[in-house]
Amino acid sequence: MEYRGYDSAGISFVNEKIEIYKNTGFVSDLIKKIPKNHEAKNGIGHTRWATHGKPTEKNAHPHLDCNEEVSVVHNGIIENYLDLKEELQKKNHKFISDTDTEVIPHLIEENNNGDIIKAINKVIKIIKGSYAITVISKNNPSEVYGVRMKSPLILGIGKNEHILASDVPAILPYANKVIYLEDGEIVRITPDEYNIFKNGEKINKEVQEIEWNIKSAEKSGYKHFTLKEIHEQPRVIRDTISGRIDEVTGKIIFNELNNLKIHDRNKIVISAMGSSLYAGMIIERLIEEQSGIYTKAVSASELISFENQINTADLVIAISQSGETADTLETVKMAREAGVPTLAITNVLGSNIEREADYVLFTRAGPEIGVAATKSFTAQIALGYLLALYFSIETKTIEPNKIKQKLKSILQVPRGMMKILGKKERIAELAKKYHKEKDFFYMGRGVNLPIALEGALKLKEISYIHAEGIASGDLKHGPLALLDRNVPVISLIPIDKFYRRNTSTIKQIKARDAPVIAITYDRDKEMEKFVDDVIRIPEIEDEDLSTLYNIVALQLFSYYIADYLKRDIDKPRNLAKSVTVE
Ligand code: BG6
Repeated sequence: MEYRGYDSAGISFVNEKIEIYKNTGFVSDLIKKIPKNHEAKNGIGHTRWATHGKPTEKNAHPHLDCNEEVSVVHNGIIENYLDLKEELQKKNHKFISDTDTEVIPHLIEENNNGDIIKAINKVIKIIKGSYAITVISKNNPSEVYGVRMKSPLILGIGKNEHILASDVPAILPYANKVIYLEDGEIVRITPDEYNIFKNGEKINKEVQEIEWNIKSAEKSGYKHFTLKEIHEQPRVIRDTISGRIDEVTGKIIFNELNNLKIHDRNKIVISAMGSSLYAGMIIERLIEEQSGIYTKAVSASELISFENQINTADLVIAISQSGETADTLETVKMAREAGVPTLAITNVLGSNIEREADYVLFTRAGPEIGVAATKSFTAQIALGYLLALYFSIETKTIEPNKIKQKLKSILQVPRGMMKILGKKERIAELAKKYHKEKDFFYMGRGVNLPIALEGALKLKEISYIHAEGIASGDLKHGPLALLDRNVPVISLIPIDKFYRRNTSTIKQIKARDAPVIAITYDRDKEMEKFVDDVIRIPEIEDEDLSTLYNIVALQLFSYYIADYLKRDIDKPRNLAKSVTVE
């Protein structure tokens, strides 16, 4: 599972008692710790991508119960772990780690009257969130148990062995017959058999045969990690906003910001680089529009040369997927030295930016292997959308019904994204039609200007074609001079108050024979008349969130153009996943 990216690892097995080995860093280091001579017939293992609790040895999985009779590994997030931990501590359960996962073995211990399947069945009625869990128990040395909710769990059926895993590559070297477990299904495996239970009843499941080789399995059958990560976005948005919205009270939950008095802040400066900067430009508009707090997104490398732009009454929000980008980190240090509070938005626990910033919020995109940011970008926007809402609630600048409308909109996003992913064949056709062009313009207005910039960046990063993102209104003030039949223009045209103005801009472009690809709403039946090609996106009540739909279409467009040009899409030339040098 190493290809998925991780920060620590661990295993445990029953050899008379439960033995457990874990460490931060690579699996290869963990292997050195494990004694060669053991008779274990079972085992569980885990590569960790920290979400709750830093990447340390004590936070690495597996986790044990008090009597070290049960050992557990977990992929996902237990949303109500803090309440459960408190209850268990009142019953004298001692906790060692900062993780959400550690409540699981303690809950199994609490509910275990000798039948561990029954105990697991009780526990899944108590925990909330997403999980794939595997469990071993000292009393059943040749068995492993598993259960899932939202996170993937696959059963591999081998010769005299059975395997449970988060993904196929872990199984393929040993078996190609698998069963994909569904939500709420509990499985027990022994070397010779497996049983699957649902609501306490035994059930039969269809066995499937895997044709993939290991390499393609790591990409879940996608040709590139970048394409796989584009398809992961509906889940990533769900994970990133999960636990942040109390749908009953309409409350936005950012406990990490309890000490941040946003109404005392004069202005907000958002500092970032690359795609994170474009996400910052969208968050800038969302915060300013909703809470009225003056907000400015600035390239970190520019902010460094302009430090008196911030003062102690401000707040600096630093956005970085990796949490390691040198320029962005420097602005956090600069702000801290100037006594300005800093809030980091990052995707990596234990990263430098988490250590440097006063407040930290995590996107939950999981490891991003493709150098070009895709799922981390949309996760930043989704988290920024809730942050803007939280600030406007804190500053009492938003009416309750508006809050409800916005929460309803963001919860619709994963399904809307699925619809656009469903149009990939159509987008691939368009990419084929335009992949030989040498120059592109991307046009957007308002909250979609940063999307035009990000769309152009994606094409540059992975296809090496020159592309420029511009504000629709700027076209006539220069770029129009560059247009001809070999310079396609991609125009983001939601049906909003600028629709007429945007369509007249398109007519000026068409007057120069430049091809136009419009991205507009499903219900816009007019657009065909004005442009060469149309990509349709579902409409969403809060237009600001059309950004999340538009960018998925643009990511796919860039991906397929780069694929037609046979580029090394996951590792484009001259680029790095994070630039850690100034
Ligand atoms: C570049 C990456 O190196 O850094 C981009 O190739 C990324 O994808 C940019 O957007 C900023 O990185 P980060 O980790 O600070 O968001």
